[in-house]
Amino acid sequence: MKLSLKHVQATYRLWGTHPFFYKLACIITFLGRENKLRRIAAEKLYLRKGDTVLDLACGTGLNFSYLEKYIGNTGKIIAFDYSEEMLCSARKNAAEHGWKNIEFLLGDAAELHLKNKVDGVESTLGISAIPRYKEALQKAVNALADGGRISILDASLPSGLWKIFNPLIAWIYKNFASWDYTKDIRGVLKSILPRVSVEEFNGGTIYIIHATK
Ligand SMILES: C[S@@+](CC[C@H](N)C(=O)[O-])C[C@H]1O[C@@H](n2cnc3c(N)ncnc32)[C@H](O)[C@@H]1O
Repeated sequence: MKLSLKHVQATYRLWGTHPFFYKLACIITFLGRENKLRRIAAEKLYLRKGDTVLDLACGTGLNFSYLEKYIGNTGKIIAFDYSEEMLCSARKNAAEHGWKNIEFLLGDAAELHLKNKVDGVESTLGISAIPRYKEALQKAVNALADGGRISILDASLPSGLWKIFNPLIAWIYKNFASWDYTKDIRGVLKSILPRVSVEEFNGGTIYIIHATK
């Protein structure tokens, strides 16, 4: 299942112009535990005041509040996304909260190149939507300073009884979120970094992969 950047652009144009509906879709994806799971994903970065963190495929900026808590106003978030509309919504979100320490960058994560190294990289529900995700993971690790942390939250199809709905779930998320569940995000990160940890939540439908460079 190979989805293109064109598909990403078209899909997220819609969600970016209707961020309220994107927020509702997140409630379904996280089965109502979004706050807790986003908090855990951010915690895994062990950020400190003044740190710089890359929010890769940041979308409408739903991680910002969790990251701001750790880095404070002396730190910096680099918010990177391919969709102009998602990024525009993220900018509005930041302005509404008065966060002035966020740099917004538009581009393909597979071509990511930052001027300076960052202390942490977070990506939530992002890597599974990036067409050239292997390159994006390698570029994300390249952007990380030695000793920096990476935390990736992503989703899997349900197992057990819920499996009967998998074809429908896969079809909906593929078409409406550019989600490709066949990506081996854990395997690829394990081939790049030593000591990669994986924790599962919501019956295995959400997982958080974290590691130190
Ligand atoms: C499901 S959304 C997740 C957004 C956000 N991280 C969150 O947790 O709500 C997936 C995001 O990945 C972005 N994306 C997809 N392909 C990308 C690429 N090649 N480079 C950068 N961002 C990409 C989309 O534009 C979209 O904003």
